[in-house]
Amino acid sequence: MSSRRPFFIDTDTASDDAVALAIAFARDDLDIVGIGVVAGNVPLDSAVQNALYTREICGRTDVPVYVGAGHPLVFPLDTAQHVHGRDGMGDIGLDLTGRQPEPGHAVDALLAASHDHAGELTLVTLGPLTNIALAVRRDPTIVDRIPRVVIMGAAADHVGNVNPVAEFNMWVDPHAVQVVLDSGLNLEFVGWDISRRDAVIVPSEADRLRAIGTPVAEFCIDIQATVARFCAEETKLAGFDLPDPIAMAYAIDPSVATETRRMFLEVECESSVTRGMVVMDLLGFSRRDPNALVVMHADHGRFIDHLEATLRAPVG
Ligand code: BDR
Ligand code: CA
Repeated sequence: MSSRRPFFIDTDTASDDAVALAIAFARDDLDIVGIGVVAGNVPLDSAVQNALYTREICGRTDVPVYVGAGHPLVFPLDTAQHVHGRDGMGDIGLDLTGRQPEPGHAVDALLAASHDHAGELTLVTLGPLTNIALAVRRDPTIVDRIPRVVIMGAAADHVGNVNPVAEFNMWVDPHAVQVVLDSGLNLEFVGWDISRRDAVIVPSEADRLRAIGTPVAEFCIDIQATVARFCAEETKLAGFDLPDPIAMAYAIDPSVATETRRMFLEVECESSVTRGMVVMDLLGFSRRDPNALVVMHADHGRFIDHLEATLRAPVG
């Protein structure tokens, strides 16, 4: 048995996903057994090319990238290209074409990884939960083999980034969220509230991180160009936020969280007003047993330490 921790990462790769992947790629204590790609921030083909480009610039072409679902379970796909750029990577002119993923479907790869690393696998999800819901539907016993699932999604303060109350990953495919919440998987949520409060990179930090000067450092900061504009104009943050990277940092190092709570969560699938809202029973009114652990607060400094270590790491 390897002493490295096996991780499987599911991603709708755009600018912040890419940084999260870079954080994982830089860790020599992780065995990244596979990356599944799902449509979300950008259409599936773009997300696949973005994952493959990120893998290459980080010197990790050894990590297999598998293509997953091209659209949500029920709703048509609605992307976030107005946030992450048309190409999902800030529209800075990267050549995001022509790279080849592994044959085989991401759902099959996840199921296989759950057998190969039964009882040990950490699953980290950075996009809509479509691939995970498909895996649970195909083989509900997957819950017995994956001890920990860290999800970037939802918001414990119920403030949304796509409508007033929903976070993007949950909004894109709420029916998949329902399947995952009902599955019995051991779920840990890092929401957009954490990103908005604890993972905002202000301009002086961005300048300092970019000045590290490695190709990965320049890449990770430069691809946030369109997100930075969106944050200034729409979400009114003091810089750009990095939701997937803080979720990844927490998955690797739970001490990034300074407060967590177990709660009962359910998701709104029908309402046109609150579609994708993950309702967290903060005061226990539902009388239902908790089905998830939620990160309530995180440590910005610890997160920055993880980011900085990534950007300084030797490639490969
Ligand atoms: C999440 O949605 C996407 O835009 C980001 O990649 C992140 O996964 C934030 O709501
Ligand atoms: Ca994402």
